[in-house]
Amino acid sequence: MAAARAIFNGMQRRAFSASARNLTKVTVLGAAGGIGQPLSLLLKLNGKITELALYDIRGGPGVAADLSHINTRSKVTGYEPTPAGLASALEGAEIVLIPAGVPRKPGMTRDDLFNTNASIVRDLAKACAESAPKAKLLIISNPVNSTVPICAEVLKAHGVYDPKRLFGVTTLDVVRANRFVSEIQNTDPKFEHITVVGGHSGVTIVPLFSQSRYPALSSNEALINRVQFGGDEVVKAKDGAGSATLSMALAASRMASALLRAATAKDKEKVIEPSFVDSPLYKDRGIDFFASKVQLGPDGVKEILPVGPIDANEEKLLEAALVDLKKNIEKGVAFVAENPPQ
Ligand code: NAD
Ligand code: LMR
Repeated sequence: MAAARAIFNGMQRRAFSASARNLTKVTVLGAAGGIGQPLSLLLKLNGKITELALYDIRGGPGVAADLSHINTRSKVTGYEPTPAGLASALEGAEIVLIPAGVPRKPGMTRDDLFNTNASIVRDLAKACAESAPKAKLLIISNPVNSTVPICAEVLKAHGVYDPKRLFGVTTLDVVRANRFVSEIQNTDPKFEHITVVGGHSGVTIVPLFSQSRYPALSSNEALINRVQFGGDEVVKAKDGAGSATLSMALAASRMASALLRAATAKDKEKVIEPSFVDSPLYKDRGIDFFASKVQLGPDGVKEILPVGPIDANEEKLLEAALVDLKKNIEKGVAFVAENPPQ
C-alpha cells in the first residue's frame, strides 16, 4: 500500500513538473470590472493556464489577492495601474483578453460607447504591441465591430500586425442563440450548434437557423430579433447598472479555452469557434472584418470557414448586416488615422 502511494505521488510530481515546463501566461486588461472579475475566476479554474496576470486602472491587485487563494495551480498576480505595471502584466502573455471600457446604459447603442472606449482600446493595443507582440488578442470591449479594427491599425503602425492573432469575441451571440433555441425546442442547449455570422451589434448579428436542425426558425422574426438584441434585454433588466457580465465571462472563457486547446490539438482534432476576425469573405465589398466560424490552431486562426448555404430571409439579414458593418469598421480605422496613439 505504502509502495503504491509512493509510486502515485512520484507520478503526480512528474506530471506537475512536466506541465510547469509548459508555461502559459494569460493576461486580463480590465480585470476588476463586471466582466473582468468572473472571467478571471473562470480562467483561474482552467488547468492549462499557469500564470494569470490581472491589470485594471483600479482594483487589479485586490482581485488577484482574492483569486490567488483558490486551490488551483496557477499563479495570480495583480499589477499596479502604471505604464510599468501594464508592461509587466503583458510580457510573455500567450493570450490577452481585453474587457476594459465602459458598458451601456438603457437607451444606448454599442456605438454610443465609441467615444470613450475607442481611446481605451487604442492605448491598450499600443501597450500590447510593445510588450506582447506575439500574443493572441481577444477584444471584448464594445463596439467590437470598431474596436477590433482599431487594434489592427495600432498593431500595423507598430509593424506587429498578424491577422491570425486578433479576435473580436462574438461567442456570446452563439451562446445566446443556442440557449434561446433550446428554450423554444425544449432541448438541452449543449446539443444546439447555431451558426451566427456578421458582427457584434444589432442587425450585424445574423443567426443562420436554416443551417440548423430547425430550418423553419429562419422565418421566426421574434427569435431572430432576440438573438440580435439579446444584449439590450440584459441592459434593460440591469436598469443602469451595466450590461451582460456573467454570460460574457463564460463566453470569453470559452474562447480562451478553445485557443489554448487548439495550441496543442492533434492533427485530426478540429477546434472551431465563431469569431470576428480579419476575413477574406467580404473583402471584395470593402469589409475587412467579419464574424464566422473559425478553425483555430497553434498560431491562432488556422482557417476561416465559409458562410455556407443560406436562405432568402438570411440573404436579406446578411445584406443589412454588411451595410452597418462597413460603417463600423471604417469608423474604427478613421479614428486611429485621426487620433494615433501617443
Ligand atoms: P465595467 O465598467 O464593469 O468594467 C470595465 C473595467 O475596465 C473597469 O474595472 C475599469 O476600471 C476598467 N478600465 C477602464 N479603462 C481601463 C484601462 N485603460 N485599462 C485597464 N482597465 C480599464 O464594464 P463591463 O461590464 O466589464 O464591460 C466591459 C466592456 O465589455 C464594455 O465595453 C461592454 O460593452 C463590453 N461587453 C462586450 C461583450 C461582447 O460580447 N463582446 C459583452 C458584454 C460586454
Ligand atoms: C452584449 O451583447 O451583451 C454586450 O455586447 C453588451 C451590450 O452592450 O449589449
